Amino acid sequence: MPACPVRYDPLDAATLADPYPVLTALRTRAPVTWHEPMECWLVTRYADCMRVLREHEHFARDPRRLGRRVPEASLSVQVLDPPHQATVRSLFMTALHAQDLTGLQERASQDIASRLDGLAPQPVWEVMRDLAQPIALAAIADLLGVTPPPACEWAQVSDTIMRSMDGGLNPALVEPGRLAKEHLSALVGSWFEASSRPAGLLGYVRARTADAGPELDRYVMHTARVMFQGGYSTLAAAIGNVLDTLARNPQAQRALREEPHLRATGVDELVRYDGPVQGTTRLAAADVTLGGIAVCRGDKVTVLFQAGNRDPGHFEYPDRLLLERLPNRHLGYGWGTHACLGTIVAQRILVALVDALADQPGPLRPAGPSLRRRTATMRAFDQLPVTLQP
Ligand code: HEM
Repeated sequence: MPACPVRYDPLDAATLADPYPVLTALRTRAPVTWHEPMECWLVTRYADCMRVLREHEHFARDPRRLGRRVPEASLSVQVLDPPHQATVRSLFMTALHAQDLTGLQERASQDIASRLDGLAPQPVWEVMRDLAQPIALAAIADLLGVTPPPACEWAQVSDTIMRSMDGGLNPALVEPGRLAKEHLSALVGSWFEASSRPAGLLGYVRARTADAGPELDRYVMHTARVMFQGGYSTLAAAIGNVLDTLARNPQAQRALREEPHLRATGVDELVRYDGPVQGTTRLAAADVTLGGIAVCRGDKVTVLFQAGNRDPGHFEYPDRLLLERLPNRHLGYGWGTHACLGTIVAQRILVALVDALADQPGPLRPAGPSLRRRTATMRAFDQLPVTLQP
């Protein structure tokens, strides 16, 4: 296989700070290319990314379709492919739409507004610790209908799991990740065992699977885990990225303040512009040609969402933040049968965030050097100091 002509290391400092130049180089010079260190094909053009995400018959999420083993604890909606995925995915989708999402958004709005009011007088505050993580935790717990664990303790567990998603690049992350997942399983298990039925989405799901048998039970429990941990970590990372983009774009903040109709399209554009989820992997289920390149059955294929999201072949002025962009069929929430189950919740929380920010008297501004988290799959901040002071 020809070597990748672009040096791409998702963990090098320059790429963590700004991945878009190297993603553009990949997309223009080698849109489907074998990456030896990651042992996979990297896919960077919008149309090719979309094809991999849509054609689940050719690109498998479930490694068992290629005769590979999947640990029991990983069997969730995220691993199953159609037709086996349908029961559990539609159960969670129906449960989500049965929730009072307007009430959820209102509670999140109040939470964000009171936190911002408390933070505004401080000369400098920390986005992830003071706002993004507590908001994301409260919103996900509210959605699922459970009491959230203590924020600090939970942030550590979730961070360890998030870092272990890069276990392919750094095997030392795998064991701590396994232990953190055990902790998460025990927590989610306790919600299922509690004698009092939880309210919210989990209550809905539990009520409808009471006699479903152990197979569905197991998928439901593991999917609840993905929703809680995945939903929390992605939402917290997205809030950080959105606030970073806005802090560095005073005109965008002004537009959101003065033209409230831009907020709904704006939150989608902010996720397209600098979304948190960088990639996802599938396995070629047959020999296929992708972007003119022969991909063999069993090869790993990694879709780089943010490369597709900045593809000028699909988006006009892809490197500009255009809050009014419509249509905006970006890949920040994935696409196809594994597209994000929590999109409507994330959109509502992000609208609540920009609403509350617009109500603040002063603009949000950077207040010191930020630090990107050294993770490849999730683009997030470790530190993001900001201020609301004039
Ligand atoms: C802005 C915040 C969010 C972003 C950008 C985001 C992004 C994504 C992306 C890109 C995927 C697809 C990954 C793939 O194809 O492998 C995904 C899947 C998923 N997301 Fe989200 N997500 C967000 C928030 C949430 C929230 C709040 C929840 C839960 C309430 C959630 C639950 C899920 C689940 C369960 C899946 C797996 C779906 C499946 O495989 O069928 N996400 N998300």
